[in-house]
Amino acid sequence: TTLAVLASGSGSNLEAIAKAIENGQLLAKIAVVIYNEPEAYVKQRADKFGIPAILINHRDYKSRAAIDLAIVDILKQYHIDLVIMAGWMRIVTQVLIDAFPERILNIHPSLLPSFKGIHAIEQAFNYGVKITGCTVHILSLEVDSGKILKQAAVPILASDTLVDLQKRIQVQEHIIYPAAIAEYAQSLTK
Ligand code: GRF
Repeated sequence: TTLAVLASGSGSNLEAIAKAIENGQLLAKIAVVIYNEPEAYVKQRADKFGIPAILINHRDYKSRAAIDLAIVDILKQYHIDLVIMAGWMRIVTQVLIDAFPERILNIHPSLLPSFKGIHAIEQAFNYGVKITGCTVHILSLEVDSGKILKQAAVPILASDTLVDLQKRIQVQEHIIYPAAIAEYAQSLTK
């Protein structure tokens, strides 16, 4: 399975996926990383693994659809089977979804359908829930709403700071995302 990873930030999920491939836990290849923030650390991580990283700076495009068209061009060029969103902080349009129907996965740092949106960890923390977690799902046009593939529960401890909780959720993300990709890729070949 040929993967593309789309990321805007640190890229710790990219690293976890790349390591799972190296370990043989995930039979796939990351053909390209697409990132939108010129200074994002994900670029360094891609370099470390020898994965080509292409900057699509959203500021250079007139519309969300135009950005997605540029992304689709790259994905086609690299013959991508599955698109992996790993902290891609841009709203996606029908252009991308129609080009890769049921072939785009996302990870979100809450137990969906609770706490959708970009402040999920803080919202769970401030709400006072005792268990939160992370969710791998198929991307749909409506944000954080597609079919759920895998979840992990993470307890919120009385002594937790927000940073403690973020770290504990990320540990679980790095476990469930490679596993969910492996299972989903396998299900597609049957
Ligand atoms: C993760 O917490 C993910 O759930 C969210 O964005 C973050 C990406 O982290 N969608 P990283 O860039 O993979 O370290």
